[in-house]
Amino acid sequence: MTLYSRVRPLAFKLPAETAHELGKRTLRGVQSTRPTRKATAYAYRFEHPALEVDLFETTFPNPVGVAAGFDKNAEVTHALEALGFGFVEIGTVTPYPQAGNDRPRLFRLREDEAMVNRMGFNGDGMVRVKERLERDGAPDVPLGVNVGKMNASTEREAIEDYRRVFDRLAPFADYVVVNVSCPNTPDEFDEASPAHLRAIFETLEAENDEHVPILVKIGPDDPEESVLELVDIVQAFDLDGLIATNTSTSRDGLRSESREEWGGLSGKPIAERSTAVIRAVADYTDGELPIVGVGGVDSAERAYEKIRAGASLVQLYTGFVYGGPSTAKRINRGLVELLERDGFATIEDAVGADLD
Ligand SMILES: Cc1cc2nc3c(=O)[nH]c(=O)nc-3n(C[C@H](O)[C@H](O)[C@H](O)COP(=O)(O)O)c2cc1C
Repeated sequence: MTLYSRVRPLAFKLPAETAHELGKRTLRGVQSTRPTRKATAYAYRFEHPALEVDLFETTFPNPVGVAAGFDKNAEVTHALEALGFGFVEIGTVTPYPQAGNDRPRLFRLREDEAMVNRMGFNGDGMVRVKERLERDGAPDVPLGVNVGKMNASTEREAIEDYRRVFDRLAPFADYVVVNVSCPNTPDEFDEASPAHLRAIFETLEAENDEHVPILVKIGPDDPEESVLELVDIVQAFDLDGLIATNTSTSRDGLRSESREEWGGLSGKPIAERSTAVIRAVADYTDGELPIVGVGGVDSAERAYEKIRAGASLVQLYTGFVYGGPSTAKRINRGLVELLERDGFATIEDAVGADLD
């Protein structure tokens, strides 16, 4: 029995956001001294040359990262590295601090191994996040920065929001993500309309002297035509990749009491849908556009499905909440076994293996 399997029932008695805050406090403790970071890395990091991924002009020590939303304000990136994740994505970071929606706004759906959240882009804002990154330094694993707009921004103001956060935080990032797929922010306009996306990408392109890779994060609920239309725009602007997917508004097949809460659904119930989006994009682009797969990854098998469907990297949030601190190690160890079973020398050889 692991320590987490004993702690989890207690943590799950607390409101979900309180448990998350306690977890983060523990991670801040881990991160605060070199010996605790080293001891944690010793216990939890799993390294294997077959897991390395060269992408975005950097090397990911393994393909399993932490998805946006877990460490919105860059408070625990070093602790997450010590827990064995191959990369960390901070954010969504907005230009100014924002309170988000009223609590409760995060719900566990235990029977479904899922969560619903309507956090609403709560966060410290770009200035504090930048100060923190300057103070703590970026982790040794690649760092993604997910950028967003203020909830109250108009269509035109939104573009300036993305530009400002990009300008401040891109210097710390190995890649930047434009997040236009959050289902629980109150938008006055269609964030993912082609005209709006073009305006955002034009603005960021003009700002991007250092050629920091730019990715776009998409949702799981859009019909395939709109996803592929977005891929056309991404390719027209020569952007560097897609993150698929964000949370879902669907509630199909759920059993837990909290299924009626409004917000974005994450975890096991969205795994298949998110893999289908990955496969559709990889098929459409002949595997030429890098994809980061996210949605319901909780085991090596679920990660491997996304990789074989065309994802070069995967991320998780909900699977980490249910699986605890050894999640990355367990998935990475399992991935090496799956590669050996199928005769792939490296994880990169398995990317898109299921495509025709
Ligand atoms: C509580 C919570 C907060 C999240 N916040 C963000 C966010 O700020 N920006 C973002 O792009 N995605 C956010 N996400 C979505 C995750 O990054 C991820 O795309 C989604 O949860 C699916 O992955 P999972 O099934 O592994 O959780 C959030 C998810 C959760 C559960």
